[in-house]
This record gives sequence, structure tokens and C-alpha cells, in this order.
Amino acid sequence: MITAIYPGSFDPVTNGHLDIIKRSAKTFDKVIVAIAQNPNKTPMFTIEERMDFLKRVINGLPNVEVDHFDGLLVDYVKEKDAHVIIKGLRAISDFEYEFQMALMNRKLDSDIETLFMMTSYKYSFLSSSMMKEVGKLGGCIAELVPDAILPDVLKRLKSV
Ligand code: PNS
Repeated sequence: MITAIYPGSFDPVTNGHLDIIKRSAKTFDKVIVAIAQNPNKTPMFTIEERMDFLKRVINGLPNVEVDHFDGLLVDYVKEKDAHVIIKGLRAISDFEYEFQMALMNRKLDSDIETLFMMTSYKYSFLSSSMMKEVGKLGGCIAELVPDAILPDVLKRLKSV
């Protein structure tokens, strides 16, 4: 039984994330989508809101769970008896930072493998931060955010 951990900020989950979640769920026995509590970032949505959004969008995927963690990702992976980290790669621009993190995680724990999944072409330009910027400025984000959370995301974007 192979459990994969898909970590991230998910502030909020986008259709790009959902694409990676669905494809990971077909590839691994179990996928845990793990929201990192990053003290260096000021998120737009609380951990509880991001958990709620993720739970709504993974509805119907029986082998996917949602969780959150603080501290090191490798410690969380071990705590879950897993050894695979899934990361989505959008463009070459993601590569350097992701490569650095993968190597650091391997240095911290050589039993843990980071596997990269190429994003689907149609989401290759999409990030939560760009989506929020476009939404705040009144652009259309309907195809970028899962339908199940779109009204809540729009409501928050309008209030900031
Ligand atoms: O969605 P993001 O913000 O790009 O995800 C980054 C994340 C959460 C995967 C990364 O910041 C992380 O792993 N944080 C946990 C703390 C940690 O282990 N840091 C060292 C990583 S080399």
C-alpha cells in the first residue's frame, strides 16, 4: 500500500491542484493532501477554511484525505508512514525552487522520495496567488477555481 503526501499552501485550492489530486489518486493507493502552516506567509484563508474547501472539492475520491501540519514536511511524511511526496510542476520557473526543496528533503531523510507530476497544459499558467490577484481586480476566475468553492472565494476576494 503506497501512501503519497501532496503538500502545499492551498490558499485556496485551484483547478490546477485538483488536477494533480485526481491524477495522484489514480496512481497511489492513498493520497493525503496536507496543508502546511507556513509562519512566513500571510494566507488569505485560515487553515480551517482551506481544509473545508479541500474536503468539498475531493468529495467522491474515496482514497483522498485532507490534513494539515506544522514543522518539517519530512517529519509529517514519516508520521503518516509514507515515503512519497507529490509535487506539481507547472513550468520551468517552478523547477529550481522545487529541485532545491526536493534535495533538501532528501538530505533530511533519504528514505523519502519526491515525485513530480507535470501539470495539465491548461493549468500550466495557474497559481493561487495569480488567481487571487485577478479575482480581486474583477477578472473572471470561474475556470480557475473548483465550482464547489467559487462563491466563497469570490465573496472573500470582494471583501478585501
Ligand atoms: O504551495 P506551496 O506554498 O508552494 O508549498 C510549499 C510547501 C508547503 C510544500 C513547503 O513550504 C514545505 O514543505 N513546508 C513545510 C516546512 C518544511 O519542511 N520546510 C523545508 C522544505 S525543504
